[in-house]
Amino acid sequence: MSRVVVAVLIALAWAAWAVAADAAAATRQRLTALRAEVAHHDKLYHQHAAPEISDYDYDRLKQRLRELEAAFPEIARETPAVAEIGDDRSGLFQTHRHRERMLSLDKSYAEADLRAFHARLAKLLGRDDLAYVVEPKFDGFAVSVTYEKGKLIRAVTRGNGVEGDDITANAVMIRRLPRTLRAVADDGAANPIPDTIELRGEIYVSFAEFSRINAEREATGEALFANPRNLATGTIRQREAGVVERRNLEIVFYGVGACMPLSAQPPTQRGLHDMLRRWGLPGVGKFWTARGADELWVAVQALDRARAGFAFPTDGAVVKLDEVALQREAGATEHAPRWAMAYKFAPARAETQLRAIVVQVGRTGVLTPVAEFAPVELAGSTVARASLHNRDEIARKDIRVGDFVYVEKAGEIIPAVVGVNLARRPAATRAFVFPESCPVCRTAVAQRAGEVAVRCPNAACPAQLRRRLEHFASRECVAIDGLGPATIEALVEKGAVKDVADIYRLRRAVLLTLGKDTGKSADRMLAAIEASKRAELWRFVHGLGIPQVGAVAAKEVARRFGSLDALLRVAPGEFGHDATGRALAAFFAEPRNRATVEGLLAAGVRPIAHGTATAAPGGRLAGKIFVLTGALPTLTRAQATEKIQAAGGKVASSVSRNTHYVLAGAEPGAKREQARTLGIPVIDEAAFLALLRDE
Ligand code: IVH
Repeated sequence: MSRVVVAVLIALAWAAWAVAADAAAATRQRLTALRAEVAHHDKLYHQHAAPEISDYDYDRLKQRLRELEAAFPEIARETPAVAEIGDDRSGLFQTHRHRERMLSLDKSYAEADLRAFHARLAKLLGRDDLAYVVEPKFDGFAVSVTYEKGKLIRAVTRGNGVEGDDITANAVMIRRLPRTLRAVADDGAANPIPDTIELRGEIYVSFAEFSRINAEREATGEALFANPRNLATGTIRQREAGVVERRNLEIVFYGVGACMPLSAQPPTQRGLHDMLRRWGLPGVGKFWTARGADELWVAVQALDRARAGFAFPTDGAVVKLDEVALQREAGATEHAPRWAMAYKFAPARAETQLRAIVVQVGRTGVLTPVAEFAPVELAGSTVARASLHNRDEIARKDIRVGDFVYVEKAGEIIPAVVGVNLARRPAATRAFVFPESCPVCRTAVAQRAGEVAVRCPNAACPAQLRRRLEHFASRECVAIDGLGPATIEALVEKGAVKDVADIYRLRRAVLLTLGKDTGKSADRMLAAIEASKRAELWRFVHGLGIPQVGAVAAKEVARRFGSLDALLRVAPGEFGHDATGRALAAFFAEPRNRATVEGLLAAGVRPIAHGTATAAPGGRLAGKIFVLTGALPTLTRAQATEKIQAAGGKVASSVSRNTHYVLAGAEPGAKREQARTLGIPVIDEAAFLALLRDE
């Protein structure tokens, strides 16, 4: 071989080695970057409950890392791995060790993954006709609750799988979590009560509760929860007294950790669901059964279709072998059982073009940017707007007008802009410049220390005033029928109302100048305003729009202090030291707010202190008390009563200070006179029907 050939061969070998070394270096770099990215999102997800990316993207990221690690095991071993089961320990609680490790679940995203799962199990267990249970995958916070001799003794988070935060004090506030297991079921049969059982489940928040809490937070300028799971996580870790009680957390049980004696554990997953019900514990409700891979896939799809009707958030299905004996035989890997698998549903996602970013001003002055995009179909409805939450959020995602953005329904209900398709960014876009001054009153904006919200600091800002009035008059507060956004806007523009108390000083003549108005609707509105003077106290407290004081806290305040006058007399230090107490102290320290309450009292507002437990607001006449008198032209007494009750109102037999309306027909008798004396509005059938139609 000539020297030249040898030299060429050596050069080639060296080049091949260099290419391989380069590839290894590139893989190493990629692995390190991916691990850092996963670790970053792990921390946001588990410890701060404030993720930056959607859950689906987070899961896929972890999946990509696992795949890369599996493809290059040697390289993967060179650098420290990310913990497989995240760690939710917060450092705020005592920790407690689980008797049986709390594992995670392997995840799958496609039919083929599920079939592979079944094939693996069929091979391992030597049979193909395996029976499965398919349950919703609740999107909440995993918890292990221990009952000893039927008594609840502890609730612990998953933590690192071995030990977690002891959250018993907060968990016992969950209304549906019983302190004792029922020894006798509804059918009279005795239930076995294990000496010790660790029940595994999920703490979560319903869609309705998520919307309620976020609506309150949006109004008061507090940061919103991105999804119900973050809300559940943020709540169960609260150390502040009162917060957990005020949020309706739910719990569901779906598994067993340790059980002593082992014989007390039901032999199948189906049996467990039955036993949970007999013990009086909240169970998964609806689940599907399947035998073999085909049925398994059918069941998972059936669950996907059904979940649109669930009142709670789900992000997938959990597929479990039904027989506990087979589960034990299949065993577990380091981080997940081999007998169960999560199947994650892809979130509804659409791409659309952002047309504008509109900045709205809320009632506490918070500026909220809202994305307006070309309408798109998303999980069964057309969406064209989504909150962008705050200035930082836009900057972090670099969302620009003209961009093609991805829109998802966070927690399946609220549309959210989750990212930008940079590949389609038009050439002429510019970074969004958040306004430096209020878009309505032009006052320079301000930001409070430690808050992400940017505010208009001008309390007299017409936008804030409008929102405060709308809130006060809304059905959730004192419920003044007919005083909606359009009327409020006109009144504010005229300068006729500068404060909620001014509503009670409105004259007929002013209402008549609103243009479209006839004398009749002015009278109806005056009657509604008059009637609202006797709304329940909590409705006024809620209507004042005190930051942190929503409907639930307002009811507590009403119960505790009993009247508006009493609230004005409380010394600053005596409101209490919880979040509500501090909020009240701050509110009543402001002369402007005291003047509002004094103004309400001076205008004749006399809230009723009792009745705080009346039906939830919702119907057009929610909480309203009617007295009927005389013969109505078309309705019988029974029909009128039925209409009032159907709209959430009540009918009383005699007129008192608590009466909101006297509905009078021909020959009304003494009741009408009593109403006049007490200043209670008397309405005829036409006005009553108009009230029902919300005119
Ligand atoms: S079984 C050993 N069933 O999903 C198996 N988990 O991503 C334990 N989850 O850690 C879990 N709904 O927090 C199971 N029906 C369900 C579930 C469920 C939600 C959660 C649970 C688990 C996580 C895995």
